[in-house]
Amino acid sequence: MERILVVDDELGMRLGLSEVLERAGFAVTAVEDGATALDALAAQPHAVVISDMRMPGMSGGELLAAVQSRYPGLPMIMMTAYGTVEDAVTAMKRGAREFLAKPFSPQDVLHLVRGILDDPEPRGSTRREDGIAMSPAMPPPGGRIVTNSPVMARVLQVAEAVAASRSAVLIAGESGTGKELLARHIHTVGPRSHHAFVAVNCAALPRELLESELFGHERGAFTGAVVRKLGKFELANRGTILLDEISEMEPLLQAKLLRVLQEYEVDRVGGSRPVSIDVRVIATTNRDLREMVASGAFRRDLYYRLHVVPLTLPPLRERIEDIDALTDHFCARFSAGRAVNVDATARALLHRHRWPGNVRELEHTIERAVLLSSGSMLGAADLQIDEDPLGTEPAKETSISLAGRTVHEVERQLIFETLQRTNNNRSHAARMLGISVRTLRNKLAEYRSSGLMEQRPS
Ligand SMILES: Nc1ncnc2c1ncn2[C@@H]1O[C@H](COP(=O)(O)OP(=O)(O)OP(=O)(O)O)[C@@H](O)[C@H]1O
Ligand SMILES: [Mg+2]
Repeated sequence: MERILVVDDELGMRLGLSEVLERAGFAVTAVEDGATALDALAAQPHAVVISDMRMPGMSGGELLAAVQSRYPGLPMIMMTAYGTVEDAVTAMKRGAREFLAKPFSPQDVLHLVRGILDDPEPRGSTRREDGIAMSPAMPPPGGRIVTNSPVMARVLQVAEAVAASRSAVLIAGESGTGKELLARHIHTVGPRSHHAFVAVNCAALPRELLESELFGHERGAFTGAVVRKLGKFELANRGTILLDEISEMEPLLQAKLLRVLQEYEVDRVGGSRPVSIDVRVIATTNRDLREMVASGAFRRDLYYRLHVVPLTLPPLRERIEDIDALTDHFCARFSAGRAVNVDATARALLHRHRWPGNVRELEHTIERAVLLSSGSMLGAADLQIDEDPLGTEPAKETSISLAGRTVHEVERQLIFETLQRTNNNRSHAARMLGISVRTLRNKLAEYRSSGLMEQRPS
């Protein structure tokens, strides 16, 4: 029988953890401080140590260091207070195998302990000198993250520190700021890199389809379900699932997702028993989820589950120091070996631009300029960017009187023009319009079905 060491100064936590672990068939030693913990480890072998981070006397971090030097390879799980990402980062950097943000459920503890016992040395991860888990050198699939910004450096530092953990990650940021790139990076540098990375856009499908896409369905679960289908969660087993635009998920699915995150099992649509899974969830949003929680549009409990490690990518206009490096990066990528550079006036224009589409817009701008010019030095004219793309001056189009037209007509025109301006980027257009992507999608479907798509201004 494997023995687990629990270290916490709080009696309630010691009792609770002991009960949960003993019921699951483990032997438990529970002690109240770091010094006693070291005595217990010297007295008999333990398979895993679970310790609080903040304790009077020897801190959890100090205990972690002592255990690492005396019993290298003995896996430790550090318990951190909710919202203290710093504690989690410190623990992971110092070599903890996992962290557990309070409050947690019995399933959370058992899931982590069993996962560690099944896989004592996480595959594919070797530890760098600074303690951050790294997978063997391989080119990241999404490409390198290029940055000179101190804010971005901090985000990357947190992301890499928690990459080895199973904990959920929530990446917020405007459209095109690099959320998916960061999610792939977290997957690539962590121990799950040998398993699948599966991305699902929650805004792209209506609820019923999204549900069977995520959770799979049994044969005959509904009309048209002629074969059994594995859901993305099952496909991502042992790997990472990216839930893009999580804010667009409908309440019913939010509840199902919460269950997956709490119970570590999925229910196939029409299935009779749950299937257990081990998936790391990364969610992205370009809307303010906290605000959505306040207004009741997003479940608070799910928000807390996802918000354990929040990462926010600043818009490009707030990290002008990245523009030159990104410009050079994209020049090199799109020039196919030909030496292409950007002159000073063009760079000045790039620095001044507001970049509503963020890095993606810069990427497209450079790609177009490189493709269309044959020279080796790009000037301001080659970039083809408006000085004022968002139209902070009153837009000319709206000076035509709106009176006499129906709300529907005006709405349709507004939607089409906004889509044009955003190069058909629906997320971005929805944000400019102040509606959800789901609403935008529904409107477009409506126009299409009533044959109004043709009226789209060219
Ligand atoms: N720091 C960076 N270095 C290099 N390339 C980047 C960087 N940030 C973003 N990119 C590139 O910009 C493009 C947009 O990034 P990505 O798709 O990750 O953005 P996103 O935040 O997920 O956007 P959306 O909200 O629209 O889905 C991608 O081609 C990505 O490779
Ligand atoms: Mg994305």
